[in-house]
Amino acid sequence: MRFDLSKPADPLLEPGAARCPGPSTRDIILRDPVRAPEPILEQSYRFLGDQDLAFSRYTSSAFHAAEIDRLWSSVWQWACREEHIPETGDYLVYDVGPYSALVVRDHAGRIRAFVNACPHRGMQFANAGAAGHGKQFLRCPFHGMSWHLDGRLREIPCRWDFPHVQDDTFGLTELATGTWGGFVFVNFDPHPEPLEDFLGALPRHFAQFAWPLEDRYVALHMHKILPGNWKMCLEGFLEAFHVLATHPEGLRTAGDANAQYDVFEPNVSRFVHTIGYPSPHLPKPLSAAELFAALGHDSASLPPGTTARARHAELMRERLGAQYGVDLGPVSDSQLLDSIEYFLFPNACFFPGISIPLIYRFRPLDVDHCIHEIMLLRPVPKDAPRPAPAPVIRLGIDDAYATVPAFAATGLAHVLDQDTDNFQRQRAGMKASRKPGQTLGNYQEVRIRHLHQRLDAYLARNGSAAPPPVAY
Ligand SMILES: [Fe+2]
Repeated sequence: MRFDLSKPADPLLEPGAARCPGPSTRDIILRDPVRAPEPILEQSYRFLGDQDLAFSRYTSSAFHAAEIDRLWSSVWQWACREEHIPETGDYLVYDVGPYSALVVRDHAGRIRAFVNACPHRGMQFANAGAAGHGKQFLRCPFHGMSWHLDGRLREIPCRWDFPHVQDDTFGLTELATGTWGGFVFVNFDPHPEPLEDFLGALPRHFAQFAWPLEDRYVALHMHKILPGNWKMCLEGFLEAFHVLATHPEGLRTAGDANAQYDVFEPNVSRFVHTIGYPSPHLPKPLSAAELFAALGHDSASLPPGTTARARHAELMRERLGAQYGVDLGPVSDSQLLDSIEYFLFPNACFFPGISIPLIYRFRPLDVDHCIHEIMLLRPVPKDAPRPAPAPVIRLGIDDAYATVPAFAATGLAHVLDQDTDNFQRQRAGMKASRKPGQTLGNYQEVRIRHLHQRLDAYLARNGSAAPPPVAY
């Protein structure tokens, strides 16, 4: 059976209630032989409004300045993985806009973060993006003043010239830190809300997936400049609506308009986008054998009575289990195959998937450019030491992700290149537009609207109280 996907929604439906005809993501996942954990089956969508979003939010320098001032100054954001600073004296610099944190492991094994500026003359202790190992103390390269790893003053050369300096008021400025899933978070606000409150549903959901993120290692880490405002680029990854036009070759083996979208207040949203099941947009349905062949297998080897998705999951479970040196037996078909993306406001995406184990982070460079980082987090092999985190591969604005062999080998690089190829034109079109804003789909683009509503809450707030959740 085919569905007419261009038909308007039933006018009697409430806004946001219409869905793509045909089997839903949940229908597909409920039929999987290896059942998905509860969080995947949860649904949490609410209509958040249908007004246009002004293009000036992406193009105005004043808006960008307000974000620097009111958002990046006071929101939780991940700085690095714990494994980036495993030993005492290991450090790493995390920057966003003008804010810079020196993240350090102290002598007690505790992770701390300090403002990366010397109290003497403001020199940075280390450059943006720098990392190092085994420091006994933190020394400013300008005049050699030094501090202990816990931030206490250690030494001032020519101390006779500083009778006005007291040791106990000349420590480094410490920033709030916290950890979740093996990620180290920092917040530049002196009085932030608790990280646990900020993370909301994220820890509860990920605790029910196999191979939680703390049991994974950084197998690949890329850093690329993108030609667009950080929100515009990020939003290209918050919906699967664009699969139809941007990744049309994927329609034989992946969903698109039938993806599921959820918002978990206050700061988390999610899509679940099934792989191994054809798009409802295909003009002609695929037989099970055709689908199995499209998934890269010998169509004659599909056992009778087995769906192509279920058999594909079995084969991927064996193949990836052998490749990673782990037992993927208990991993559900959905976690194994699907593109399951959790977004944590303002800038990070976490995929619990096994064949799609992506992490994204977006940071503004200026109003028109951002940094996009991608990590692949793979399960730590059984009975083996945790592999060292992969070093960062830096790509320029014109370098394709497909030029990174380890990423190309996953089959994901080409898809990411298709995504990022849109941005230069979208940025130009936003600036050229006479229509003042963009018009979003009520369901498929709800995560974009939610991001902007959270952003507005930060831009509007006074003091450090946590912005209230989006009001309905
Ligand atoms: Fe895409």
